[in-house]
Amino acid sequence: MSIIKNLDFFPYPFKDDMYRYSNNSLPLEPPISIQLTPSYCEEIKLKRELLTEHPKRCFQSRPHAMRGQWEIVHMILEHLVSEYPNHFSLEKNGENWTFHNHILSEKQSFVSGDHTTLPFEPLDFIGRHVQEDLILMMERDGDLFLDAGQLCFPANWSLAFNVGMSFKEIHRPIPGFKEEGLDDRIVRFLMRMEAGEPWSRRNWSLMAGSRLDTSLETFDVWGKGRNEVTKENVGELVHLRVEVQKLFRLPRSNSILFTIHTHLLPLRTFVENKEWRRQFFELLKELPDQIAEYKGLSQYRQTVLEYLKSR
Ligand code: HEM
Repeated sequence: MSIIKNLDFFPYPFKDDMYRYSNNSLPLEPPISIQLTPSYCEEIKLKRELLTEHPKRCFQSRPHAMRGQWEIVHMILEHLVSEYPNHFSLEKNGENWTFHNHILSEKQSFVSGDHTTLPFEPLDFIGRHVQEDLILMMERDGDLFLDAGQLCFPANWSLAFNVGMSFKEIHRPIPGFKEEGLDDRIVRFLMRMEAGEPWSRRNWSLMAGSRLDTSLETFDVWGKGRNEVTKENVGELVHLRVEVQKLFRLPRSNSILFTIHTHLLPLRTFVENKEWRRQFFELLKELPDQIAEYKGLSQYRQTVLEYLKSR
């Protein structure tokens, strides 16, 4: 499981002592779509198991998304090879390409642009080599639609349910998002995004447990953990869940790649940083009820606050 033990690597998500929904995207530096962490092998194994056992839950695509899928494959291959040349390599002979994953001792030859030469659809293939979940949002009629995705570690949402939806439809469950015009502003921001100028943001929540695969479809299995938090187990059971999300404009298919890299940190480890502990206490105490409710932490918010205070 992707539990981070070293605080130095944890993507701390908070800027202020108060949290409200906003467009908190920042220019991505360096402009790279993927990151390998020490739990690479463990997470890739889990991803592939989930894809085998629940293919429809973890991968969806619409027929017109093939071009965008290939554009993602090309970008991620380029990033893997440039960032981790000891772990990945790519041989090109015209359109005949061979990709090597040296960590897993795997090799795949294929014809670039011809999906019939791959064992899976292009996005499903490349997603099996990276820890990120990958979502393709295609632009048409002045809007963005979720037209393909590989999603193994969702924070309580369903790819099978959301496929084909527009950005605003996807974000409808979020309290205040539409009412405050945030959805309009974010769509406008996304439509203005340009190739070569990617963005990044961090999303956070708390969760009772350390599962990465918290899909909506399995809520009955993991959701009950929320009622099991006590002052004795809170430090071990409750985790801060942070998603590092990245956005890339794909110029050829006129679409956007949205990547999600999920990190989990047990509260017990989180509280070792005094400033984080102080800031999170203030923020959680002040968090509006409707956001706490949406994030699913209302049941144990008080227990977490008491724990943070007692440290
Ligand atoms: C363009 C690709 C994006 C996709 C596919 C996407 C997808 C999602 C999904 C599926 C949810 C969960 C909705 C539910 O409860 O069913 C969500 C939540 C959310 N999204 Fe996005 N999103 C995208 C981009 C963004 C951007 C650019 C922002 C802000 C700048 C944003 C802000 C949020 C916020 C604030 C939440 C609520 C999260 C929470 O409270 O834990 N999203 N998004």
